[in-house]
Amino acid sequence: MFTAALLTILGPLVASAAYTPLGRSGELQSRNNGQTCTVQSGGSNSTDDSQSFRDAAKQCANGGTLLFQEGVDYYFNTPVNATLNNVDIQFKGNVHLPQNLTYVQGIVNGSTGGNTWWINLTGDNLNFTGTTNLSTGWVYGYGQQWWDANPKNGSGLAARPHLWRFNMTNGNIKNIKIRKPIAWVTTLNGNNINVDNVFVDAATTPGGGFPFNTDGFDVAAKNVKINDFTIFNGDDAVTINNGGENVTVTNGFIAGPGCHGTSIGSLGQAQGVYQTVRNILFDNIKVHGCVYGSRIKTYLGGQGMVQNVTFSNYAVSNTTFPIYLTQNYFNQGSSQTQNGAGVQEGGNFGGRVDNSSVLIDGVTYKNWYGDINTYQPGDGSCVTDPCWYDVPGADGTQAIVIGCSNSTACSNFEFQNIQVIPQSYATTQINCTNLESGSNPKLGIVCTNGTLMTN
Ligand SMILES: *[C@@H]1O[C@H](CO)[C@@H](O)[C@H](O)[C@H]1NC(C)=O
Ligand SMILES: *[C@@H]1O[C@H](CO)[C@@H](O)[C@H](O)[C@H]1NC(C)=O
Ligand SMILES: *[C@@H]1O[C@H](CO)[C@@H](O)[C@H](O)[C@H]1NC(C)=O
Ligand SMILES: *[C@@H]1O[C@H](CO)[C@@H](O)[C@H](O)[C@H]1NC(C)=O
Ligand SMILES: *[C@@H]1O[C@H](CO)[C@@H](O)[C@H](O)[C@H]1NC(C)=O
Ligand SMILES: *[C@@H]1O[C@H](CO)[C@@H](O)[C@H](O)[C@H]1NC(C)=O
Ligand SMILES: *[C@@H]1O[C@H](CO)[C@@H](O)[C@H](O)[C@H]1NC(C)=O
Ligand SMILES: *[C@@H]1O[C@H](CO)[C@@H](O)[C@H](O)[C@H]1NC(C)=O
Ligand SMILES: *[C@@H]1O[C@H](CO)[C@@H](O)[C@H](O)[C@H]1NC(C)=O
Ligand SMILES: *[C@@H]1O[C@H](CO)[C@@H](O)[C@H](O)[C@H]1NC(C)=O
Ligand SMILES: *[C@@H]1O[C@H](CO)[C@@H](O)[C@H](O)[C@H]1NC(C)=O
Ligand SMILES: *[C@@H]1O[C@H](CO)[C@@H](O)[C@H](O)[C@H]1NC(C)=O
Repeated sequence: MFTAALLTILGPLVASAAYTPLGRSGELQSRNNGQTCTVQSGGSNSTDDSQSFRDAAKQCANGGTLLFQEGVDYYFNTPVNATLNNVDIQFKGNVHLPQNLTYVQGIVNGSTGGNTWWINLTGDNLNFTGTTNLSTGWVYGYGQQWWDANPKNGSGLAARPHLWRFNMTNGNIKNIKIRKPIAWVTTLNGNNINVDNVFVDAATTPGGGFPFNTDGFDVAAKNVKINDFTIFNGDDAVTINNGGENVTVTNGFIAGPGCHGTSIGSLGQAQGVYQTVRNILFDNIKVHGCVYGSRIKTYLGGQGMVQNVTFSNYAVSNTTFPIYLTQNYFNQGSSQTQNGAGVQEGGNFGGRVDNSSVLIDGVTYKNWYGDINTYQPGDGSCVTDPCWYDVPGADGTQAIVIGCSNSTACSNFEFQNIQVIPQSYATTQINCTNLESGSNPKLGIVCTNGTLMTN
């Protein structure tokens, strides 16, 4: 059943996956030197194929082709790091993460800092080329057992690894397919990266545990294009983090149950650290059954700047908060820095000093269509009372929820053609705080708590 659905979904993406070269002039890239290093497989998880990967990567680290053979299964029992320059990774086989959960937790616990990326690739002129053959070229995370093992009211097991990080300058990632990642999927660092044709399946089985923190892309890179993607998950499909600049995210289909849509942030968690995100475009995005369509999230008392962000041409269906912005973000399950926890802690802001906010300038929402999840809002990620995504007074009819921290924190916002309606026959509502007309001359709507009106 799932395969049939996948074929239906991937079909048009695969067909439309025209490869767009960067087209930047003046960059002479040295070419692959012709050597091919084939990653060998031991054939079962009793052999750690990570070691064969390290050997092949060492041999072909400069100007080679690293080949994962078509249809071959590779068992990466331990995490890998590789620095590869002028290399093309031909990813035609399958990589399996270990299925033994406690074994993986042991590795993550034993790593410095407790943050582990199972596959960590760094390089200049580095390509990672998968395949459009749906029967091979997968990464298997065996995440379902991690989600199912999460205790009631837990927000994800401890010691979960990230799947992979690409830290590239002049990189191309194409035709990647990930099935049941444990948690965070792709971290992007670096500059000048094209990503094309992505499928992430982090949907839990019916009745299964919630797939916490299964972010599709965490982008902290510059000059990035992510195009043609299908992401079923339980957190942000794509989020742009501190340092993200000149990022376009186009032609995506995002579904849950439990997805949190397209995001900026969170920013400003560490007080005293200035964080920036600028020049971001999300365009032609379909969002089905998510908590959010688009979300900007910053912490009270944080510092920084979000500048020039567009969310255009969105089709949303059964989405709880289609357009959402909070400058009062908090992270469920982590109380020490969180003002939100202050709600439950007598409003003492969990120790944070509320003396600043991340400034947000130049945000456009344009051409939004669809409906709001009126009857069963939210998702299985809610384990606190009140829920981390609770909006006081919201009743499933708000297309827009904007909470700016003061009258100058949000400037130059524009809303054009927002046609998003509740599933009931009620009129579309808005909750809006601090979008002042003086600093938002082209706002296009009335900032109020009540019926959504254009101006
Ligand atoms: C990867 O590199 C980092 C930094 O050098 C190191 O701390 C870590 O142990 C390496 N991991 C592996 C699996 O080699
Ligand atoms: C990834 O690998 C690079 C280069 O080997 C290393 O510098 C970096 O610390 C590694 N990062 C992690 C999270 O292992
Ligand atoms: C990576 O792909 C780009 C775009 O197709 C190409 O220009 C470049 O030569 C490739 N690099 C390698 C090492 O294959
Ligand atoms: C190896 O695979 C078997 C099933 O094929 C699984 O039961 C076992 O947990 C795996 N071992 C590791 C370390 O992943
Ligand atoms: C799973 O890994 C743990 C820790 O390495 C080990 O003690 C246990 O025997 C493993 N279980 C199986 C079924 O291999
Ligand atoms: C990415 O790689 C560059 C060059 O090796 C390095 O300077 C930078 O610290 C890396 N970034 C991350 C987040 O690892
Ligand atoms: C981002 O794009 C702008 C406008 O094209 C350009 O001026 C700027 O240098 C780019 N930033 C980076 C880090 O390349
Ligand atoms: C705003 O961001 C978009 C998307 O990255 C970019 O095309 C545009 O040039 C940026 N505008 C300015 C004024 O930098
Ligand atoms: C909307 O999503 C909820 C889960 O959040 C689901 O229970 C409900 O059936 C969906 N409604 C429609 C109309 O798809
Ligand atoms: C709003 O917050 C910003 C950032 O903390 C601050 O610079 C500004 O003075 C505040 N404006 C008002 C009117 O309080
Ligand atoms: C909407 O309600 C919030 C919370 O009560 C309030 O802070 C805000 O000022 C209201 N917005 C308007 C435009 O009155
Ligand atoms: C949000 O707006 C709705 C009307 O759209 C209103 O009933 C509700 O009280 C508002 N919530 C707050 C906190 O102002």
